[in-house]
Amino acid sequence: MTLPTTPIMGDGLPPALREMLGPAFEILEWDESPDSPVLARVVGIITYGHPRVDGALMDRVPHLKVISNHGVGVDHIDVPAAKARGIPVGNTPGCLDASTADMTMALMLATARNVVVGDRFARSAEFTHYDPSQWIGHEVSGSTLGIIGLGRIGRQVARRALAFDMKVLYHNRRRDEEAERELGVIHVPLDELLRQSDFVSLNCPLTPETTNLIGSRELALMKPTAILLNLARGPVVDHDALFAALDSRRIAAAGLDVTSPEPLPRDHPLLGLANVVITPHLGSASDRTRHRMMQMTVENLRAGLKGDPLPWAV
Ligand code: 8YV
Repeated sequence: MTLPTTPIMGDGLPPALREMLGPAFEILEWDESPDSPVLARVVGIITYGHPRVDGALMDRVPHLKVISNHGVGVDHIDVPAAKARGIPVGNTPGCLDASTADMTMALMLATARNVVVGDRFARSAEFTHYDPSQWIGHEVSGSTLGIIGLGRIGRQVARRALAFDMKVLYHNRRRDEEAERELGVIHVPLDELLRQSDFVSLNCPLTPETTNLIGSRELALMKPTAILLNLARGPVVDHDALFAALDSRRIAAAGLDVTSPEPLPRDHPLLGLANVVITPHLGSASDRTRHRMMQMTVENLRAGLKGDPLPWAV
């Protein structure tokens, strides 16, 4: 005898997540087409990657009890629309702070110390002899870091930066006096942070206020030796303005883990610049973090289906 399974919809869920869900679930492939045979049956949604879930889609899933997001950022989900319909939304805060902060440091070091261009050179026929005057980068240790968005991830970035003897500035809408006491970070207005920092790290969520936060005006305030790091979301940065600033060496370099759109079209001019290090949204992509994200995603889903409060509700 086969027991009835619970139909949920997910977008390309990996084997490890399917295994955690176990046989009690029927996992339906993402299908939001007008004649979708799936939506009328679905009771739970897992967003893996960033499929857009808006009110119109929610309205086409009449039995939807929960939306469980694999990840902390929920800019691809219309949370007010879910709230208005009484559908709880879960996410995975906390577990990815360390890995995303590690990746911020990875891009900081890679851009400042020519890790990627140096790697290409060291493999090429051009590397015929060691020349100490080549590939001179910017020193990370002792430099000034400006963190835009000192939340959970930003604090972890600050901790790592302090171990590099960096001076850490931050900009948030509201001052975080506890962080100031605990970490010695200094709150400054945005323009001041841009003027003073050797590295500007974006670690904020994508909201209407942070969309295009960094455009040509802001890039023009940065030092010509400064490096921009985006571990947040692509649309926080105006990419045309960023290209212009990097191409003209108005700023020294950028480390981009996220872009807009994502991925960039293969012929996008940013991809042709040597002073850009780009990674394919790897902020939380470590084995331990991914495992925990999946566990939290499944726990939120199960709670929502039972009608219990979600352990990690947005
Ligand atoms: C995830 C992310 O990889 O948590 C986030 O907000 O951007 C990433 O860490 C992504 O959500 C995958 O589902």
